[in-house]
Amino acid sequence: MRAIGGTFPARTGRQIPVGRDQPGGARRRRVAAGPADAGARCLPMPGAGEFGRPGYGRQGMRDWGLSMGEAAVEYVNLGASGVRVSRVCLGMMSYGNGSERPWVLDEDAAGPIVQVAAEGGITFFDTADAYSGGASEVATGRLLAKFVSRDDVVVATKVFMPVGSGENNGGLSRKHILAGIDAALRRLDMDYVDLYQIHRWDYRTPIEETMQALHDVVRAGKARYIGASSMYAWQFAKAQHAADAHGWTRFVSMQNHYNLVYREEEREMIPQCIDQGVAVIPWSPLARGLLAGNRTRDGERRTTRSGTDPFGDSLYKVDADFDVVDRVREVAAARGVPAAQVALAWLLHRPGVTAPIVGATKLSHLQDALAAEQLELSEEEMQRLQEPYVPHPVLGHG
Ligand SMILES: NC(=O)c1ccc[n+]([C@@H]2O[C@H](COP(=O)([O-])OP(=O)(O)OC[C@H]3O[C@@H](n4cnc5c(N)ncnc54)[C@H](OP(=O)(O)O)[C@@H]3O)[C@@H](O)[C@H]2O)c1
Repeated sequence: MRAIGGTFPARTGRQIPVGRDQPGGARRRRVAAGPADAGARCLPMPGAGEFGRPGYGRQGMRDWGLSMGEAAVEYVNLGASGVRVSRVCLGMMSYGNGSERPWVLDEDAAGPIVQVAAEGGITFFDTADAYSGGASEVATGRLLAKFVSRDDVVVATKVFMPVGSGENNGGLSRKHILAGIDAALRRLDMDYVDLYQIHRWDYRTPIEETMQALHDVVRAGKARYIGASSMYAWQFAKAQHAADAHGWTRFVSMQNHYNLVYREEEREMIPQCIDQGVAVIPWSPLARGLLAGNRTRDGERRTTRSGTDPFGDSLYKVDADFDVVDRVREVAAARGVPAAQVALAWLLHRPGVTAPIVGATKLSHLQDALAAEQLELSEEEMQRLQEPYVPHPVLGHG
């Protein structure tokens, strides 16, 4: 990488699991999951009628000819907190309803993917109030209730984006946070969420009001921990300072925009998180499919999502991004694995990263995510992947 250093300053704060450099506290659980066999990855999606059939999960994978070797899923602490999470988090934004985003799967279609994720060892799931107008939270609650025990999973949701037309149906005011958590719990049909995250910085609400309201949510037993998402590092530091100054709950995690074509978080936010014992849980780790090749330099759109994702188009549009995509493809070809595995493995090796939040609309996407968790990249491969990167403007805070 040309502009940003590949190493980080010595940590002065609490120790947290950092990429693959510091597996302290990490533990692997043997599960049937995550084949590294690239040849077995083109899976037919079953028809809608098959979703509820018995033995859908592990047996179902065998039925479809999946090569499910013994895999080891790693679990680590979520930052300096005591709660343990899988090193891959399943993003639930892709599930709900496709009325606004045609690539979003409904609950029936998402079922097999969530079941296989759970049986593959994933214990960490991320949604938000705004995804599919609340339908993502509904699907998350229903699907997790079908396939896992509530105590075994870490469920994260978010507040901030408008969820209605009223002046107070968005943002981070006390009024909206207290109403927002109750509405989220109703949709999820849960008594509590594990991680309640602010989706963005609210320029209209004093941070003290927000942090006190979040603290009250935790004190009321409606959330176990709080986290934040894309914002400037100074804003995050200011929020943590407000919490410290008043004895309120601190954020344990930062859900930020970080992948091979957007690395600006390495300048300030990630070193800050490492220093402060905050988990980094990157969103869009495959740059919304770009790093897996869902669109090309000359404008070809190869999937439904790549043709109907204006937010993705606004983030990834410079020619240099496609130089990175080409490099990922080269490294992946040399290893004989799909590009998506290499791009995710790169992130899993980076300092500070606790768990990328992956998007999966096919079983093969999930397979690659589980396989990436076990793919070791050499220092030379890491350098090759990083080499074509050029600095970007701040992207993804809006
Ligand atoms: N906090 C925030 O502001 C924020 C913002 C965005 C997302 N998120 C969270 O992050 C999660 C993930 O976001 P994302 O869906 O954008 O993540 P992503 O992993 O970058 O993109 C997922 C897309 O990549 C493609 N893909 C995934 N695995 C693949 C594979 N193995 N081979 C080929 N293509 C593959 C698919 O695109 P195609 O469908 O085109 O094939 C899939 O829809 C969300 O569910 C949400 O929880 C948070």
